[in-house]
Amino acid sequence: MKLLILAIFVSRLPAAPPEAPAHRGFDAASCAKCHSELTQGKKYVHEPVRHSCTICHDPQASEPPTLLRAPLNDLCLECHGAGERQGATVALFNGRVKVPGTLLHALRPLPVRAGHPVPYHPVFVPAGMGLPEINCLSCHTPHASDGSPQLLVSGAEGRKGLCVKCHSHE
Ligand code: HEC
Ligand code: HEC
Ligand code: HEC
Ligand code: HEC
Ligand code: HEC
Repeated sequence: MKLLILAIFVSRLPAAPPEAPAHRGFDAASCAKCHSELTQGKKYVHEPVRHSCTICHDPQASEPPTLLRAPLNDLCLECHGAGERQGATVALFNGRVKVPGTLLHALRPLPVRAGHPVPYHPVFVPAGMGLPEINCLSCHTPHASDGSPQLLVSGAEGRKGLCVKCHSHE
């Protein structure tokens, strides 16, 4: 009887935040031990993912769920939105991450202000605007893809498949 009461009491506590302790103090190389399914066997792996998980994820971050270093679009534009960068190493995210300059040499700044992927197209629409919500992950997957070198979201290997996700009337 005592046990039953305890069980009821425990189940009425507010839901605990997602488990994070497993992520304290891991070096980048160890991430794959538990998360290999993200990239294993995938044909196209996003270059920084190949390099180190902790470029984008901060295992010490106190905020689950995805332990990101910045809000989504800011995260992506830290690399894809900047101009050419000089030097053997480049500091990202206010110096919290350093990457070899060679990792970023091939990047052209993404002309998001002029519209992407087509002229005037928004890449950021917050919720509650009466429009489909949009961010980089509406169209791209952050880690790896089997069918799309441009890492387009699955089920949208062709460009057309992607567009009709939101523009079904066309
Ligand atoms: C000992 C195994 C283990 C290691 C090593 C590990 N993780 Fe995890 N990770 C987990 C488990 C278990 C979950 C929870 C999975 C779930 O809820 O589906 C998780 C969840 C996550 C999540 C999502 C969090 C959420 O709440 O959805 C991220 C992001 C993540 N891990 C990143 C990393 C990174 C980056 C590393 C390396 C620094 C790493 N993990 C190393 C076991 C591990
Ligand atoms: C380029 C930045 C970037 C890198 C590098 C990166 N991730 Fe992620 N990861 C993300 C983003 C963005 C999300 C959030 C996805 C979402 O909210 O849907 C995410 C989500 C996750 C999740 C939650 C489950 C999921 O699939 O959405 C796990 C686990 C995870 N990452 C692990 C890893 C591991 C392990 C590595 C290294 C092999 C890694 N990430 C490298 C950007 C990155
Ligand atoms: C640490 C820097 C960095 C961050 C952060 C980053 N990327 Fe990348 N991304 C790269 C590099 C480097 C490449 C490879 C470019 C190349 O080889 O031409 C790449 C490639 C890509 C490509 C494929 C382009 C192509 O033609 O090969 C897409 C799409 C992409 N990133 C989207 C994203 C999205 C979405 C995010 C945020 C979740 C993100 N990136 C965050 C560095 C970054
Ligand atoms: C509405 C869908 C959509 C959104 C939102 C979107 N993309 Fe794209 N992105 C695409 C498509 C489609 C392509 C392929 C373009 C092509 O083949 O001409 C692409 C190509 C890319 C490329 C490689 C080609 C290039 O122009 O350099 C990068 C890098 C990229 N996107 C990053 C991002 C980032 C970062 C964000 C968020 C700021 C983002 N995308 C938001 C649809 C989108
Ligand atoms: C995640 C949802 C989403 C996806 C996917 C998407 N769009 Fe859009 N698109 C929007 C929103 C929201 C707008 C702005 C409001 C509007 O005009 O409906 C827009 C606007 C447009 C416009 C009008 C731009 C202007 O002149 O104002 C065109 C053209 C367009 N999209 C084409 C495309 C193409 C091509 C693709 C596929 C590569 C695509 N869209 C994928 C949501 C999306």
